[in-house]
Amino acid sequence: MLGVSSFRIFAPMKELIHICHYKLYAYDELSEQDRQLIDEAQCATGRSYAPYSDFQVGAAVLLDDGTVVTGSNQENVAYPSGLCAERTALFSAGSAYPEKAVVALAIAACMEGKFTRNPITPCGACRQVMLETELRHHTPMRILLYGTEGVCVIEGGVGELLPLSFDSFR
Ligand code: THU
Repeated sequence: MLGVSSFRIFAPMKELIHICHYKLYAYDELSEQDRQLIDEAQCATGRSYAPYSDFQVGAAVLLDDGTVVTGSNQENVAYPSGLCAERTALFSAGSAYPEKAVVALAIAACMEGKFTRNPITPCGACRQVMLETELRHHTPMRILLYGTEGVCVIEGGVGELLPLSFDSFR
């Protein structure tokens, strides 16, 4: 049996800390372009199909030529078959405009008929897809997370949300 005295604590070779850099704004303080993208994400919540969670999420993607593509969460009785709003929007943009870079992504969510007070953040799978979208087009995306109490703006790209990410094995 191992006793406490069997463990030796070594100093690490390096110690690193990841910081997520984001800014909080009131909706009215944002640029017109940011507000329009958030408005599109809010509208997209109305096209959500979420009979199981009753949580309506909308996403809006801004492409480098100004085109906006939206998506909403689409659920299914076989739960894993559903898809989050972010991936619905990103895959829709990727299939309609494969050559265009995504320069911004806005997200809004609705519960019991009201937008959430706090912004919601994308799930891990969506972060991975967001990251690959950036890598594919060599363009970092501006991320806007809407809440009625404030909008979280991430300007440094998806890496802020997904440190130590899996990129490629090649
Ligand atoms: N959902 C999204 O669409 N985006 C997120 O960022 C978080 C969660 C969806 C998945 C599911 O349909 C519902 O919200 C409840 O988790």
